[in-house]
Formats: sequence, structure tokens, C-alpha cells
Amino acid sequence: MAPVPQFRVAELFAGVGGFRLALERSGWGVVWSNQWEPSTKAQHASDCYVARFGPEGHVCDDIAKVVIENADASIPDFELLVGGFPCQDYSVAKPLPQATGIQGKKGVLWWSIYRMLDLKRPPFVLLENVDRLLKSPAIQRGRDFAIILSCLAQLGYVAEWRVVNAAEYGFPQRRRRVFLYAHRLDHCGYQWHPIRRLYSEGVMAKALPIKSPGSPRLNELLAPEPTIELDANPYAVSQTFGIGQKISPFENAGVMIEGRVWTEKVVAAHRGKLRALGDVVAKTERIPESFFIDPARIEAWGYLKGPKREPRTDKVTGHEYFYSEGKMACPDPLDRPARTILTGEGGMSPSRFKHIIEDPASGRLRRLTPEELEELNGFPRGWTNTGMSDTRRAFMMGNALVVGIVEHIGRAIMDEAATCLESRAEQDARRTGTHT
Ligand SMILES: C[S@@+](CC[C@H](N)C(=O)[O-])C[C@H]1O[C@@H](n2cnc3c(N)ncnc32)[C@H](O)[C@@H]1O
Repeated sequence: MAPVPQFRVAELFAGVGGFRLALERSGWGVVWSNQWEPSTKAQHASDCYVARFGPEGHVCDDIAKVVIENADASIPDFELLVGGFPCQDYSVAKPLPQATGIQGKKGVLWWSIYRMLDLKRPPFVLLENVDRLLKSPAIQRGRDFAIILSCLAQLGYVAEWRVVNAAEYGFPQRRRRVFLYAHRLDHCGYQWHPIRRLYSEGVMAKALPIKSPGSPRLNELLAPEPTIELDANPYAVSQTFGIGQKISPFENAGVMIEGRVWTEKVVAAHRGKLRALGDVVAKTERIPESFFIDPARIEAWGYLKGPKREPRTDKVTGHEYFYSEGKMACPDPLDRPARTILTGEGGMSPSRFKHIIEDPASGRLRRLTPEELEELNGFPRGWTNTGMSDTRRAFMMGNALVVGIVEHIGRAIMDEAATCLESRAEQDARRTGTHT
């Protein structure tokens, strides 16, 4: 009998476990995870992760250290590597001899992911980042994303990506993130056309449907030249990509095969129900007094959320300029999805970006509770109530993801993985003569 394929996950930058919650709901099993916060001694996210999932297979240490020290195979094998990592400067510091690959800037987390992929070669990868990743840095538009794609190509992966606004798929928050899925060419191959993959047959298209461009455009696209051809050497990409370009060539969806990139601007197609902030708020029964806005501070909140045009002076250059910004909706409308939760959402001090709502029961203005922030991301209420302050709980949700979006993607990867891994297991069994 051919061996039964396994569906094991390793979770990097695990935070409070958004990927794990989603992937366990879609049939995957997390066998190893890593979470370590460099800026604080207390490890609240890791503690919460362990409180919810147990300590087995969890490592709370700097990933840069872990991937070097664990080259000794103490990280178990897995089929899918996942992680949500910060948008940083990914430039390649210098090329190394062929055998040792490339070296990025110290402290840049992408290079830990790269090293992990190189070390473990999982057949599937799913990464999450802010959508700015497609455009950064300003001096070489799109370079950082081009480096990532070029690294994946170099390691033998094909990839697809999509910028997803969770509210467009029925979730109550307008959180916009880029999801990048890749699989090893030698495991799954690509028996598909890049544009069909992008619009209908890929993991992203199956998980999160988009509008078809219509048959004339689709026909036009059926034999397309790629939008971009990346240099096979990530160092060359780092040195040259996007120089002199004002805008990034990467649209909100795309496919990369062996360094050739097809990218299109696409629109979400969702037939189900849409949800709003008010749907979440309506479930809250008890609101501690500290969440209501102190009447003495309403003016300060109003100023920060209001429009302004003020003369300011640059502290470094002494240059005088006008700073202007528009008006934010205040209170936040309950009949629309929430804005993106940021890490600074918690705490009593007035801020332009924290949400303020009119409490439906009392009519008083208030901030959102940690439980409401959790539900806006699709976590069970109380998930981060594991010994940290309310401000910290809000911080965790600012870092986390919309669980339901990853659940959809996890299911689509599972379908693809089941087919790929079964046929791979059959091939291996035939080769070794263990097939019955
Ligand atoms: C964007 S958050 C990911 C949140 C996660 N997806 C969740 O659902 O909570 C990135 C995480 O990477 C962690 N991190 C930052 N630097 C790290 C490092 N050097 N090693 C390991 N983890 C790190 C941060 O503490 C943070 O929790």
C-alpha cells in the first residue's frame, strides 16, 4: 500500500496563533511553531500561544538563531510552512558562492524564511504581509517583492499572490493583506495556464473567488507574454529592479513560474453575506467603564480625528511646510466593516486611528473591547485573556490576521496538497517497489 500523505505545518512568527486556528479548522496539523518578540522581555504572544495550544513543538527564541542552530534537524519535517512577517528592507547584502546562496541584511526576517525553505524544502508555503510589500521601497518600486519571488524561483517554487480585503469576503474588518502561496515545482508541477490559474484554477482563486475579466479579455490573455521576467539571480534583482520607476509593476494578483511573472488587477466576487462592525458590537454584554470616553477628553479625540492644515517645521532640515490630513469618520459607523485594527488600538489616550463607536445600549462614546477586537479578526472572544493587559491584547490583534481568510486558503491548499502528495507517494512507492 502506498504511504498515506501527511499534512503537517510549521508556523513562523506565530504571534497568538492566527494561522494555527485557521489551518486546524481546514484539516492541517501544526507540528512546530516559533514566536519571539524582540522588543520586550515578557513574551506575551508566545505565552498566549502556549496557553491555547500547549507547549509541544513550540520554540520561543529569535528565529534567526533558531534556523542556524537547528540545521541539526531538530525541527521536524512538515509539508506546509506558514508565517506573517513584517515589511522590511529585503535587499540582498551580497552574493555568496553558489553553494551558500545569498545573504540578506542582518535582522531582516525574510532571510530566516528563506533559510528555513532552503533547509527543509517543504512542498507548500503560505506567507502573509502588508500590501505595501508589493510597492516597497520608494526608491526601487516593487524591488522587495521581486526579491522574494526571485528567491522562491531559485529554490524551485512556483508562486501566486493576492491582495485580500477581508471585508469583501464577508468579514467585519477591512483588513487588507497580501497572501503569497508557493509550491515546489517538482512536487506539483504546473499543468495549468498562468492566467487561468490566476482567475479560476489557482489556490487563491478557489479560496477567494474573483470576477472573470469576460471572455474577450480572457481569450486575449490566453497566450500572453509575462508582464515581468525576473533575473534568475536575486542579487541582480536587488541591484536593478525598479530603478527609476514611479510605480510598482505588481498588481493585486499574480502568478510566478520560473521567474516569469503574470500580474493583473482583479476584483473580489463574493455572493455571501457581508458583515459590519455593528454585528460584532451587538454581541457585547458588559463594557468596563474604562472603555467609555472621558467627556473631558472628547475635544482632544475630536481634534485628532478632524481635518487639519497646519504649518510645521522639519526638525532636521528646518524646512517649513503645511501638514494636512482629512476628517476621519467619528464615531466609526456600525453599519460598515471596521477599519484595520492597528497595534496602537489599545489604551485610553486619544488617537486618530483607534476606533470610537457610539455604544448602542447607552448612546455613550466608547473604544472597542479586547473581545470585540478578537472577534473582528475571527478569534474566539477571550482568546488573548492569558495574563496580559488590555492594551497588549489590542496590540496582539493589530499584529494578527483574519482567521477566516486563512481558513479558506488552507482548504484550497489542502485540496491541491492531497492531489499532489498522493500522486507523489504513489510515484515514490512505484520507484521503491513498495506499491501493492
Ligand atoms: C505580524 S506578527 C504575526 C502574528 C500572527 N500571525 C498572529 O496571528 O498572531 C509577527 C510576529 O513575529 C514576531 N517576531 C518578530 N521578530 C521575530 C524574531 N526575530 N523571531 C521570532 N519571532 C519574531 C513578533 O513578535 C510578532 O508576533
